[in-house]
Amino acid sequence: MKRVLVKVPASTANLGPGFDTLGMALSLYAWIEMSPAKETTFRLHGEQMQGLPTDKTNLLYKVAQLVFKEAGVQMPELHIEMYSEIPLTRGLGSSASAIVGSLVAANALIGSPLSEDKLFQIATSLEGHPDNVGASLFGGIVVSAWDGEQADYVRLAPHPKLETLVAIPAFQLSTEKARHALPSQVSMADAVFNVGRSSLLVAALASGELGLIRHAMRDRLHQPYRAALIPGMTAILECAADNGALGAALSGAGPTLIAFVEADSPRKAELERFLVETLQREGVSAETMWLKPSVSGTEVRVEETNADSVNDGTTLMSRIKGEVVQ
Ligand code: HSE
Repeated sequence: MKRVLVKVPASTANLGPGFDTLGMALSLYAWIEMSPAKETTFRLHGEQMQGLPTDKTNLLYKVAQLVFKEAGVQMPELHIEMYSEIPLTRGLGSSASAIVGSLVAANALIGSPLSEDKLFQIATSLEGHPDNVGASLFGGIVVSAWDGEQADYVRLAPHPKLETLVAIPAFQLSTEKARHALPSQVSMADAVFNVGRSSLLVAALASGELGLIRHAMRDRLHQPYRAALIPGMTAILECAADNGALGAALSGAGPTLIAFVEADSPRKAELERFLVETLQREGVSAETMWLKPSVSGTEVRVEETNADSVNDGTTLMSRIKGEVVQ
């Protein structure tokens, strides 16, 4: 019997101007375990997983079956376990981590017939944009473009001094709702503004010129339209750099806000206070977390077991004990 355990990082998408294009993996993780079984069963660990489907309508199960179909393999019954530190519907790529984790686990279970690039293509079309899935799959900073059929990408190594502070508001915001807030057309001036900022940001991140992030992490394509959904966001984006950040952005579709920081900055406590108090003034309570870029993307462990996973008396939680940090 084979059992596959996949560890997959959270991600922040857009990084301000790189709407649907830039993503960075973060040091917050989800674990997905998959093994063949006599009948399909699930163990979803942790409070936030409660209420998710535990039958064949489960996203993890459906994504795994896509892999088997693509590879021409039959494996209709699975035992699936999952634990996630990544808060759901907050803009930290929880759905991308589930899609990527399940694709990689299912592929490893059948001997990895699909290439990493193929998994990226499938993940991008399932998610509808490549930014979160690319970061979760490859780790680091991923610059990608998708034309609806083909996704191309380049992975950049994050600067070793780069760290982030996320402020996660205590309310959920679906990507669908946050995308509905966007206009269907933008002006040439705004498009040119974003091409400039996004290009500058990629160059700054690639060359390690962290001081440029302040000017590069500005956006006119999505953040201004989403501001109404996230009280306090505009003030944070405008003033974070004056309060100790290298720059700040809405993380993905929000509501989480992310500030980029130099790891050895003496102003980290000041920045944290600024974020929390700015949100508080708008009546929004938020949890903060210091996260590093996750240099690794998805990590896979394949194990041969004697017993079947459902009945061997152990669970995923005992196998990842010591790795779970949050
Ligand atoms: N690029 C996407 C958006 C990310 O901003 O809608 C969603 O997670």
